[in-house]
Amino acid sequence: MPLKAYDLTGRTAFVTGAAGGIGRASAVLLAEAGATVHCADRDAEGLHETATLIKDHGGTARTHPLDVTDRAQLAQAVRSCERLDVMAAIAGIMHRSTVLETRDEDLDRVLDVNFKGVLHACQEAAWLMLARRSGGSIVTMASGAIDTGGPGLLCYGAAKAAVVQLTKTLANEVGKHGIRVNAVAPGWTRTPMTDRHDSEEQRQTETWMARMSPLGRVGEAEDVAHAVLYLASDASSFTTGQILRPNGGVAMPW
Ligand SMILES: NC(=O)c1ccc[n+]([C@@H]2O[C@H](COP(=O)([O-])OP(=O)(O)OC[C@H]3O[C@@H](n4cnc5c(N)ncnc54)[C@H](O)[C@@H]3O)[C@@H](O)[C@H]2O)c1
Repeated sequence: MPLKAYDLTGRTAFVTGAAGGIGRASAVLLAEAGATVHCADRDAEGLHETATLIKDHGGTARTHPLDVTDRAQLAQAVRSCERLDVMAAIAGIMHRSTVLETRDEDLDRVLDVNFKGVLHACQEAAWLMLARRSGGSIVTMASGAIDTGGPGLLCYGAAKAAVVQLTKTLANEVGKHGIRVNAVAPGWTRTPMTDRHDSEEQRQTETWMARMSPLGRVGEAEDVAHAVLYLASDASSFTTGQILRPNGGVAMPW
């Protein structure tokens, strides 16, 4: 029996990016806390694996194979939920290029997925929560890139900074309706996203990140999922418009 404030029994969550990494870990944990979880991702096979994991642990999952840049598909999937208590907008892509080498099409692609994909998920969720007068919690996925301005992270960091602005603005606009909106800004986390860029430079960055952390390690997807669960649940009922940083202490902004 989970602590009551973390108990999501009877609630419904929608998770984008649920086919792998942080999205999968979050979907599984939200289900473990008792929520019915709607899992969305463009990777249908990965989605099926996530749903199987949830069901094998006695949870309830629905799958929505979709691309978050397809607004109509996303709207249809969110509106298919009978009720919606939690939106976790986690789907995202990595892109690295120096400022001087960045092409407009790189920026457009990253903004489409990492910002507009999150914006549209937030809009759909908030509309549904407002229409049903149910309140709810919206969790967005930013990144430690908002604190560092790391080399090569212009497109990625700009999109994540926009997600933070969206989070704060929406929190101000819908708070009076009992809807909370918060962002998670993880540090380096071991997921398919960080493995996919497996190169000597990538390995060196991971080692450096672990050394930079007072805890001496990089993150695991489950570390971030626990932050998502906290913000999704009543445990954070007086928290809105905030950025939670599961980053091992690599950055400690005020
Ligand atoms: N891993 C890290 O170090 C780290 C750090 C900070 C923030 N983040 C953020 O966390 C989120 C999850 O990242 P992750 O590390 O788990 O990456 P990941 O690549 O393991 O997972 C991302 C998921 O998003 C899905 N996705 C990507 N584009 C999509 C689209 N257009 N439509 C639908 N689904 C799409 C992918 O299929 C994948 O399942 C991202 O927003 C990422 O920017 C990750």
